[in-house]
Amino acid sequence: MGREGRAAMTAETITMMPASATIHPGWVRVCHWVNALAILVMIGSGWQIYNASPLFGFTFPGSITLGGWLAGALLWHFAAMWVLVINGIFYVTLGILTGRFRRKLLPIRPSEVVADVKAALTFKLAHDDLSHYNAVQKLLYSGVILAGVVIVLSGLSIWKPVQFQELTALFGGYDTARYVHFFAMAAIVGFLIVHVALALIVPRSLRAMITGR
Ligand code: HEM
Ligand code: HEM
Repeated sequence: MGREGRAAMTAETITMMPASATIHPGWVRVCHWVNALAILVMIGSGWQIYNASPLFGFTFPGSITLGGWLAGALLWHFAAMWVLVINGIFYVTLGILTGRFRRKLLPIRPSEVVADVKAALTFKLAHDDLSHYNAVQKLLYSGVILAGVVIVLSGLSIWKPVQFQELTALFGGYDTARYVHFFAMAAIVGFLIVHVALALIVPRSLRAMITGR
């Protein structure tokens, strides 16, 4: 093949491989699954910690908690905490620096959210282009990333209320920070139920988060 032929083929190969061939880059997929595992450990151990001194009139069944007792649960909580925070800092930094957050999660227009919720409830919401998030996905993903920041900051302020006293004060003191921590967990669990259900209803999206395409 002559030089021209080769040049033509290269150009053809490039046009055949649009930039969107990879739906989720490797770093997103790795961060996503490390985060999913860490969050599950944090939820299970958090529920066990809660049971030692419930904020409300109920406790979580032992079969869905992690750690066996308070001290065991705290060990799990503080171990997975490092994984969650290091992985989270990596994901958020790259999300901002690569422009992924701006491209994929913004802008969120209330009118589009309303339209997409209506479409979703009548099963008319299209999922043909997995590389583009609809307004509901944008809202939920941005929301859960924010909930992640809040749960980490409130967690730090109940873990080290003396060292991080300004942070604890920002939450309105230790007791309020504990409630904030709990409700952030409830928001994440609520997100997770809808999120996993939708991933199972649209299995192609699950495959894309595993293999990238
Ligand atoms: C940097 C991250 C985190 C830190 C430093 C942290 C720290 C703590 C601490 C110190 C407690 C004990 C509070 C007490 O003595 O009552 C606690 C409780 C708890 N954590 Fe976390 N946590 C973090 C992330 C998370 C995450 C990601 C979740 C779940 C998604 C979670 C769920 C819970 C729950 C449910 C409790 C029990 C709530 C209560 O009764 O106070 N935590 N956390
Ligand atoms: C454990 C079970 C989980 C499954 C099966 C799952 C599945 C998925 C799938 C299939 C996608 C791509 C969906 C799409 O195209 O919209 C996705 C994206 C996402 N998931 Fe999950 N997920 C899980 C846990 C979590 C957890 C625990 C969180 C956070 C608390 C989370 C946060 C996200 C976010 C923020 C995205 C968008 C990521 C980006 O595009 O940068 N997921 N997940």
